[in-house]
Amino acid sequence: ASKQALQNAARSYASRGAGGERDVVPRKVAILGAAGGIGQPLSLLMKMSPHVTNLALYDIAGTPGVAADVSHMNTIAKVKGFAGEDQLHEALEGSDVVIIPAGVPRKPGMTRDDLFKINASIVQGLIKACGEACPKALLNIISNPVNSTVPIAAETLKAMGVYDPKRLFGVTTLDLVRARTFYADAIGVDVNSVDVPVVGGHAGTTILPLFSQARHQGQAQKELSAEEIDALTKRTQDGGTEVVQAKAGKGSATLSMAYAGALFADSCLRGLNGTAQTSEYSMVQSEVTSCPFFASKVRLGPSGAEEILGLGELNELEQKGLDVAIAELTASVEKGVKFAKDGS
Ligand code: NAI
Repeated sequence: ASKQALQNAARSYASRGAGGERDVVPRKVAILGAAGGIGQPLSLLMKMSPHVTNLALYDIAGTPGVAADVSHMNTIAKVKGFAGEDQLHEALEGSDVVIIPAGVPRKPGMTRDDLFKINASIVQGLIKACGEACPKALLNIISNPVNSTVPIAAETLKAMGVYDPKRLFGVTTLDLVRARTFYADAIGVDVNSVDVPVVGGHAGTTILPLFSQARHQGQAQKELSAEEIDALTKRTQDGGTEVVQAKAGKGSATLSMAYAGALFADSCLRGLNGTAQTSEYSMVQSEVTSCPFFASKVRLGPSGAEEILGLGELNELEQKGLDVAIAELTASVEKGVKFAKDGS
């Protein structure tokens, strides 16, 4: 009965904010690290999502302000802020999707791996709480280094006996967003018509865009040479560093990351709601390569990652890139597993 009441309530909110024709399923999303550079615009975007009826904003501090602010938007989600560890469980209870952008970002000269020491324990602590309070939620990990924080999360949940590989995702969507933007600009087509697969991991050479499989609609203004494809590959791999340098010590990508994180979380929600043909690229437990965690195209459904798709045909250069990516990614995964097991 209470589910029905919630559904009715959600529908009546929807009819005020979103046109009314939509059949809204009650869905709770929690954002951990919601007062941060990514967390704030991500809170804004999830408040705008037609799929979210309940939005929990958690951080160690600052969330009452963020929550009060976005709660005034006339969209369907009910917003509540939670600050400090003693409110973490309440923030998480009943969540369908938990998005985690908590932790420190890079400064110029740092690699994502330099963040390992601090972010590994932050992610481990938050995942433990998820395992206790919402073990069935789909977990979207944004905190870097994603190549290690995802295996840390898996090991933490395994040790608690609640690990479901279909529900754990490393968010690599920003790499896809960048590859599409750069490719559309380079060949001069509508960016909305562009699809570029990006597989592997989320750091340097583990980010592997497959431009040989890129698709677009309309007439391209330009054919790309091998050198231009190589430059686009490097720009996609270094896109994060481009932003870190431009921000000159004031952090890394936050706005484009919030956009990418919201796209991914929305796809997770559409999958949960049973919307046909929802797929995204994401780093998941995988048998696509020899590396136990690997980002490739994933079909999302009511139970999370329902199907992990293969890589398709790679050209010679991409095959070489894949070998490099697998070696580096495997080392980062092992580093994460080791940390989760013995804290070092
Ligand atoms: P930020 O420093 O602006 O915000 C981080 C937030 O996390 C802060 O509000 C902080 O209070 C909070 N936090 C720290 N410890 C916490 C804990 N134990 N529980 C809850 N919240 C906690 O950093 P920003 O720029 O938002 O970046 C966050 C993370 O996202 C970084 O690790 C960054 O490297 C990563 N990132 C990932 C990307 C991806 O593509 N996956 C892209 C860009 C950044």
